[in-house]
Amino acid sequence: MDTYHLCLNEKKIKKAKYAFLPGDPERVPNIAGFFDEHKSIEIAWNREFRTWLGKINGEEVIVTSTGIGGSSTSIAVDELAQLGVHTFIRVGTTGAIQKDIDVGDVIITTASVRLDGASIHYCPIEYPAVANYYVLHALVESAKALDTRYHVGITASSDTFYPGQERYDSFSGYRYIIKRLQGSLKEWQQLNVLNYEMESSTLFTIASTLNLRAGCITEVIINRVNQQKINSKITKLAKEKSIKIAIGAMKRLIDNDKTLPNKRVKDGNKRSGR
Ligand code: URA
Repeated sequence: MDTYHLCLNEKKIKKAKYAFLPGDPERVPNIAGFFDEHKSIEIAWNREFRTWLGKINGEEVIVTSTGIGGSSTSIAVDELAQLGVHTFIRVGTTGAIQKDIDVGDVIITTASVRLDGASIHYCPIEYPAVANYYVLHALVESAKALDTRYHVGITASSDTFYPGQERYDSFSGYRYIIKRLQGSLKEWQQLNVLNYEMESSTLFTIASTLNLRAGCITEVIINRVNQQKINSKITKLAKEKSIKIAIGAMKRLIDNDKTLPNKRVKDGNKRSGR
């Protein structure tokens, strides 16, 4: 039987265990375009959840869009986990909040500030939202190999784009940003948070609590320190670097897993490395 929202089953995904998770359904074929032999196919599209299937290094892999924010991300991750997927790499876009991070740079998230709501339905707020060490390591190694400007650190992961990221160019403007969030951008900056995005805290907490592996790489489309506005041309271009790094990281993880004793891989014991 198909899963409720993603409209997938184990047969359709050919028991794939590895998934890329962009937010945007339009990015799904872009990512699948980097799979082996360009033979990837679309296998489902319901609401914001679009899935393509292909192979990387001979292994079945899928790419599924999560839509924006924690609640739809939780559905995507939960339903893929139900089908046996154990490794997730989110590939998305982000707004930097540190001066030295330029538009076009990539950010690899080590851990996320939990400004989402979905993750508290999976674990208490004291539980950390951290990337899986092995996915994180694979992303960093892949970024190094591609000679790209990248930053590694903490991300603020917010369920809202406007108040949660302290944006005043919203419908309500200044008046309706609640007190708790006024000054929050500066505070995160001072606490060495690198950027804002909207899905990693949900992904990391669900993956950790279910003993799955997850990592996150995002491409910077705006630097909030300079009060920039999002430029749709830049957003369209901000795709290739993060995708290439994510593909390189997944190849490393797949190759490493092949050297593990089968049982440990099958059991989904993702705490183990080599
Ligand atoms: N995604 C976000 O969540 N925030 C930004 O500023 C840009 C992309």
